[in-house]
Amino acid sequence: MPSQLLQRKSIDKLIADAATPGHQLRKSLGPWSLTALGIGAIIGTGIFVLTGTAAAGEVLEVHSLLKAPLLEVVLHGAKAIGTAGRPGAGPGIALSFLLVAIACALAGLCYAELASMIPIAGSAYTYSYATLGEIIAWIIGWDLILEYAVSNMAVAVGFSAYINSLLEGFGLHLPASISQPVFNDSLERTGSYFNVPGFLIVMILTVILVIGIRESAGANNLMVGVKITAILIFIVAASRFIHVSNWKPFMPNGWQGVLTGGAIVFFTYIGFDSVSTAAEECKNPQKDVPFGIIASLIICATLYITVALVLTGAQHWQTLRNAAPVANALMALGMPNVMKWVTIGALTGMISSMLVFQLGQARVWFAMSRDGLLPEVFSRVHARFLTPHISTWVAGFAVAIPAGLFDIGTLADLSNIGTLFAFVLVSLGVLILRRTEPQRRRSFRTPWVPAVPILSIVACIILMASLPLETWGRFIVWLIIGLCIYAAYSRKHSEFGSSPRTMTDAGALSQNAHMVR
Ligand code: ALA
Repeated sequence: MPSQLLQRKSIDKLIADAATPGHQLRKSLGPWSLTALGIGAIIGTGIFVLTGTAAAGEVLEVHSLLKAPLLEVVLHGAKAIGTAGRPGAGPGIALSFLLVAIACALAGLCYAELASMIPIAGSAYTYSYATLGEIIAWIIGWDLILEYAVSNMAVAVGFSAYINSLLEGFGLHLPASISQPVFNDSLERTGSYFNVPGFLIVMILTVILVIGIRESAGANNLMVGVKITAILIFIVAASRFIHVSNWKPFMPNGWQGVLTGGAIVFFTYIGFDSVSTAAEECKNPQKDVPFGIIASLIICATLYITVALVLTGAQHWQTLRNAAPVANALMALGMPNVMKWVTIGALTGMISSMLVFQLGQARVWFAMSRDGLLPEVFSRVHARFLTPHISTWVAGFAVAIPAGLFDIGTLADLSNIGTLFAFVLVSLGVLILRRTEPQRRRSFRTPWVPAVPILSIVACIILMASLPLETWGRFIVWLIIGLCIYAAYSRKHSEFGSSPRTMTDAGALSQNAHMVR
């Protein structure tokens, strides 16, 4: 018998546990709501902020090995210091968006197969429990919490900054003492008491998520409509100013610029995986989750590539090195009113992205708790709303409080590394399940296996290697904290542990089990 660390939970058991009274979620999502959830998560701040830097390039002063990309350190050792200027992709940024879309599609196809086989709330965490064993499942669950939480802290802080500048555009001014983080990047006091807008937006979304999946999906659909409209307004308004000469040369820094741009814009695609965390709330998950993942990726890739072409066609790529390239381009083209609409679209994008990431985060807490790896309280379902209300509140406070205190933007790379790690394990999961459970029904099959999962793993490892050593260090510290919790609690309480908490006990213990409809 394998050691507990390598024990795998059978897919049938995972599906049976999801049907335990008191721990069931409402099934109300269809294919288009899921697609909208995917778009809601994918289009956040990234397209409005990172496109400029990725096109124009960055001059990075690398003062220590910690700031240098892992790959540079491995290849050049101490010479990596001072050498990390990032060449711009120029108009070729459109190609960067296309290449990253292809890399994400490879991982997306793997997610789609596993989601169609194991339509359970925990996404990559649950797939790893079925394929790679308990310890890897714990690591990936803990890693997904990091991905969703850190990305949302960063977006909440960005939201606060954007709302301040929008209000100023209308002559309103929020005092810095209640609208800035309390500590800056270097953890020095800024003089502010709390970042109230950053805190409040996360808590408002938490209330919506507790009230219901239908209400959350409805709010998300509305916001997705607003942000797609804003992007289309930009495309139509700015395309009149395209000068083909701005696209020449198309790749001023060759493929190196295009690939570096790709590493930067990877962040803009993060989020499609969160579609799979809602698998348990779908009417027909086996068909709808693969559809939602693939459709949301195709729609976002098309919008991103078009924005990139229009932006670099209307403004020379060398003028785009700023934090709000889309808004600034509209100002430079003499369209301040259009700029206001696009800013409102960007804000809406941030809100819907946060909504879906909070939803995904709570589902991961929920699934890990249902398997006994986290305390039972996290998998309680609200008697009336049928949502995992306690894990939603905990996820809300866990993100809102740091967003109120810290300027967390510099930690956003952690979100990238966490996501890429999850993609690697999901792709590995497809390869393993094709061997161990070849007969199990898959309503979606990843094409060209093993080529697609292997290429997905290679692409993710290349992107991970381009992240700074510092990010790797932080990621490893996070995993060590997780392993301590696993050793102290989860190992004993999982179904393979010394004092397992079975789902039948959990259901009986649950205070509101008898009230669930
Ligand atoms: N993909 C999300 C964004 O661009 C995280 O903000």
